Amino acid sequence: MSKRNLFVTTALPYANGAFHMGHIMEYIQADIWVRHERMSGNKVHFVGADDVHGAPIMIAAQKRGITPQEFVAEIAAGRKQYLDGFHISFDHWHSTDAPENHELSQGIYRRLKAGGLIYTKEIEQYYDTVKGMFLADRFIKGTCPRCGAKDQYGDNCEKCSAVYSPMEVVDPYSTLSGSRPEIRTSTHYFFKLSDPQCVKFLREWTNGTGKDGLPRVQSEVLAKDMEWLGEDGNLSDWDISRDEPYFGIAIPDAPGKYFYVWLDAPVGYLASLKAYCEKNGLDFEQLLLDENTEQHHFIGKDIIYFHTLFWPAMLHFAGKPFRIPDHVNAHGFMTVNGEKMSKSRGTGISPLQYLDLGMNAEWLRYYLAAKMNSRVEDVDFTKADFAQRVNSDLIGKYVNIASRAAGFIFKKFEGRVRDDVMQDELLTSIRARAEEVQKYYETREFARATRVVMELADRINEFVDTEKPWELAKDPARAEDLHRVSTIALEGFRLLTLYLKPVLPATAERVESFLSIDPLNWASVSTPLTSERPINAFKHLMQRVDMDKQLNVLVPEKAPEPEPVLPGGEAIAPECKIDDFTKIDLRVAKIVKCEHVEGSTKLLRLTLDLGEGHTRNVFSGIKGAYQPEDLEGRLTVMIANLAPRKMRFGISEGMVLAASDANDKNLGLFILEPDSGAVPGMRIR
Ligand code: 2FM
Ligand code: ZN
Repeated sequence: MSKRNLFVTTALPYANGAFHMGHIMEYIQADIWVRHERMSGNKVHFVGADDVHGAPIMIAAQKRGITPQEFVAEIAAGRKQYLDGFHISFDHWHSTDAPENHELSQGIYRRLKAGGLIYTKEIEQYYDTVKGMFLADRFIKGTCPRCGAKDQYGDNCEKCSAVYSPMEVVDPYSTLSGSRPEIRTSTHYFFKLSDPQCVKFLREWTNGTGKDGLPRVQSEVLAKDMEWLGEDGNLSDWDISRDEPYFGIAIPDAPGKYFYVWLDAPVGYLASLKAYCEKNGLDFEQLLLDENTEQHHFIGKDIIYFHTLFWPAMLHFAGKPFRIPDHVNAHGFMTVNGEKMSKSRGTGISPLQYLDLGMNAEWLRYYLAAKMNSRVEDVDFTKADFAQRVNSDLIGKYVNIASRAAGFIFKKFEGRVRDDVMQDELLTSIRARAEEVQKYYETREFARATRVVMELADRINEFVDTEKPWELAKDPARAEDLHRVSTIALEGFRLLTLYLKPVLPATAERVESFLSIDPLNWASVSTPLTSERPINAFKHLMQRVDMDKQLNVLVPEKAPEPEPVLPGGEAIAPECKIDDFTKIDLRVAKIVKCEHVEGSTKLLRLTLDLGEGHTRNVFSGIKGAYQPEDLEGRLTVMIANLAPRKMRFGISEGMVLAASDANDKNLGLFILEPDSGAVPGMRIR
């Protein structure tokens, strides 16, 4: 098969803040895939860029009193420490404000316009007269038109969850100036996505396969796209223009109009590739036109719409040299203890803090790999799970093999392995799994790849446990055996290092140097260690994660929820299920008669009517709290299906409910009473 030429991207992060763990997770996923492809001998062009345009960045810069260009340059300067820190091997990092992107975005737009896919329309929009600018919906607040709650967002209400148009908001105000905006009209440019040829193309694209024969999008994404495309293709046209002042790319022949940031953002993928080509003496257009080229995008599940509808349509209708994406791979979000990460709730994990705590980037790479698959699923981070996978699996199983075998080879056999045992059964069976592991990487089933590796690590460790090299070492007569066992374990370790190399590139490099071998790639499966190249002294490969000094600092225990203060401090009973509750038949009952009970200091005798056609007799220990005449004629709540109970004074056919404090009887006792309107016999549910 001819070598693949892979143009690979990750979503371009907004240049309005530092990377968060969500970014890093996506980069790690893409990076593992990319490294696997490089190890297969394919040519990869892995590029990223900052997504710098749009009103929020312009406003953030204004607030700081600097230009947007200065603002995003600061952000860009902070990127490297993260990318290097987590071993993300981008070939190039660019900016959507770079000249390449202006040129490409305008060029693509001109092609779309020539193809009759662009039109203009007057739209009404809020205008901030103080700031002198049109306001995006997110800069409008006001009173909810449905429930009247104040200070709600321009398009939805947090109080009553209503969704509405900003034009409906009562007493709207601009969050930028606080002033009341005016409604003004303005000409906007639209991309005619509703055009039948667009809809037809998108249907084909989303249902199709990439050059590699695999579906272009995941089944969940296909289902979403089909829903959006609808039965008869009811896609809305896309508003691609914004009025000045705007930090963006000017629309050709349209003074004062800029491209909406989401138009030039994905074009930024191409701009980054172009700049990379120029830097490396490659022909950008040739690369795109090359029939061995494939285009792969890694994105989060929140931007599927942009990447599987707008973007392929833009590329297709712009025509050559542009090519449609072969694959758009969407991933879920990273959660912590099952919760969405949130700075304000303190549930986020900071990637920079992770590195600052001296935590090994490869722990995270391994952890994420062990949990990631090809589906659009969230990945949950928990400390216990992290510690287990790193300390037990990665170090306890994988790294352990090297420390068990390398010392003997180095000290007892001058660093030389035994060449005649390389076709041992255990090793052959490990090599036989190489294709399977590669397939898992290829299809982004990383969890499966790591599972195979751990299974093989278990087998090697069992082999060592059985052969007991530490005992063989005591008996000079058994040196050959010791040589055999440690060679097999070490070659096994080499193979596992190869299988994990996309995930653990730095460790693999250290292993390559101590084993004194060439950089591992997929072809290295069949080139075992050789006595001709003695190994070096074993260097410590990886530390264990420290629960107290690292994990607990990175993800602090949540401050325990304050116990609700109950009168007398009576704790809430253990959790029950709704079934437990529905077993108890609670009814509204009318107290038709209430009397003292001769000889009892505690009880009152109640005659209750539940509308059953007869009354019930119930004894209740409420004498201390009520006089009989207080209760007659009132409604209360009783358990109607409690087994009748024989008491000294007669049979009690139920129980009335009363509130009391377990410890402080002085607080009194209060029978329950339904709100007015309830009638006897009604069930409480
Ligand atoms: O959602 C985001 O963070 C966008 N900045 C992603 C853009 S991806 C591509 F289109 F540039
Ligand atoms: Zn509301």
